[in-house]
Amino acid sequence: MKKFLNLKKNIFIFSSLLVLLFFLSIWLWHQFQKEERLYFCDDKTIICDLSEAPYHDPSLPVEERVEDLLSHMTLDEKIGQLALVERSEIKDKNDIATYGLGGLLSGAGSHPENNTALGWQEMTADYQTYTKKTRLQIPLLYGADAIHGNSNVPGATVFPHQIGLGAANDPDLVRRINEATAKELAATGIYWNYAPSLDVAKDLRWGRTYETFSSESDRVENLAAAAIIGLQGENSATPFVIATAKHYIGSGAMIWGTAVNEDYKIDQGEVRLTEEELRAEHLPPFKKAVEAGVWSVMAGLNNWQGLKLSANKYLLTDVLKEELGFQGFVVSDWYGVYEIPGNNYQNTITAINAGVDMVMLPFDYKKFIADLQQSTSNGRVPASRLDDAVRRILRAKFSLGLFDRPAPTANDLAIIGSEEHRALAREAVRKSLVLLKDRRQTLPLDKNLDTIIVAGSAADNSGRQCGGWTVEWQGIDGNWLPGASSILKGIKEAVSSETKVIFEETGNFDLDVKADVGIVIVGEKSYAEGVGDEAEPQLSPEDLATIEKVRKASNKLIVIIVSGRPLNIKLPARNWDTIIAAWLPGSEGQGVADVLFGGYPFVGTLPIEWEL
Ligand code: BGC
Repeated sequence: MKKFLNLKKNIFIFSSLLVLLFFLSIWLWHQFQKEERLYFCDDKTIICDLSEAPYHDPSLPVEERVEDLLSHMTLDEKIGQLALVERSEIKDKNDIATYGLGGLLSGAGSHPENNTALGWQEMTADYQTYTKKTRLQIPLLYGADAIHGNSNVPGATVFPHQIGLGAANDPDLVRRINEATAKELAATGIYWNYAPSLDVAKDLRWGRTYETFSSESDRVENLAAAAIIGLQGENSATPFVIATAKHYIGSGAMIWGTAVNEDYKIDQGEVRLTEEELRAEHLPPFKKAVEAGVWSVMAGLNNWQGLKLSANKYLLTDVLKEELGFQGFVVSDWYGVYEIPGNNYQNTITAINAGVDMVMLPFDYKKFIADLQQSTSNGRVPASRLDDAVRRILRAKFSLGLFDRPAPTANDLAIIGSEEHRALAREAVRKSLVLLKDRRQTLPLDKNLDTIIVAGSAADNSGRQCGGWTVEWQGIDGNWLPGASSILKGIKEAVSSETKVIFEETGNFDLDVKADVGIVIVGEKSYAEGVGDEAEPQLSPEDLATIEKVRKASNKLIVIIVSGRPLNIKLPARNWDTIIAAWLPGSEGQGVADVLFGGYPFVGTLPIEWEL
């Protein structure tokens, strides 16, 4: 009995020790965390531990949290919030904490070493850990160009580029696509999309024509709100992901030959419209965007009447913020602020005073911060302007839930490239096709034809189908995109098991009798931005030669054009029976066959003039 009591006593002592040890380790862990948190706060004149400050309380209204946080911020901490740095420029990640950076971005093609969805998720999470080392713990806004799906990530669903969606001209479709994009983006820890483009493309020679919905202001306006609501959600007060209406304003009207970048022809050029013309054609989509509650607007790299947009106080502050009542923040584009004529110090002052709230910095962020420190200390950038910019940025961060939102986990990655999203992308491909010509009523094709020959540089190339801004800035070539389907694959899947589909890329068929139908899929090689500025967009001689060979080898000829804009095919197209504009359909090439074989009708209409 005594022995038993002793045992009981020992168990009691042992378990008490265990409990004590447990609490001790929790306390130690907490201390360690605190140490970590205070790492970048050794200043005795400020409160280092703000973990109990009201702004951390998610139950408080956003405005209250913004004001509380602002009241604790030093000048340097405010300045840091205005810096949006390209990730590859960060050589020491501790700079995120040292400078209290407001945001990071992946410029096109700037991806983690492990370029997978998981790699992206881990990368964004890793960057956020550095903000935990600061006393304020303000999360970073991470931005990327998910302009046709989360297309930076191999394996994501790649939707048709906007020009195709402009052809479909279906706001509900645009909303659903943007909703899907937002989900795929958020799964990688990115809550800020540099989309949609609301440019109204007036010159198809521009390499960014395909990023736009249309050359018609009305059509762009009609789809603008749908895209924004899709990304942000119905209630703009609690956005799921922040949209960016870009490129404010007039970029679609730049004049050929005025590009400031000597490698380009029109991109980053001059807009010479009168104010009345600018307002009539180019402002309405942005007005719609503001009404829809868009959280950020990107100032274009163009000039208007000789003045760089990021220097234009009238357009950024008077028109956008005051007249239209834009409550979000203005972000400058790429190197835009430093392209204002003058030195960088002066440019920083000009841009911030003009109304730019966050400055995109592919390079030179330390210099930017030093310049802003100087110009706010000497009053050339007024304290009220700085506070206004910081307020706008913090408001977005709180509204997005960045302070409170749990980071995505590996389980959330299943949405990326999901069946449901791919089906939606396929629907978008179907709806974006435009039947330019069908002179012998070739369509719809019979699934039971004996022989179909298929050729062309874009027939079996899902990379090219996706166009620019897909994994790399200038896009990719070939069929290696995980989960993607080429147009050829769709054709093969659509026909009966008896039908022979013979593919030869360059059209060298050796047939005894002509094939019933020849399909040639040709078009533009991928390009992005000014690299795609092209004096005479047209098919290459090789593509034309392929078409000619297939014409001779088949009874009926169908030409499908994969391109970011109308191509000049006036002469060669005279003896083609059927021509289809497929734009840049993205990863789900089977959508083309869905319509070719009559499963669905052609519903797309030209979003931009195409002379035939
Ligand atoms: C483009 C923007 C883009 C930004 C960030 C710039 O070159 O003009 O549209 O959002 O890069 O990638």
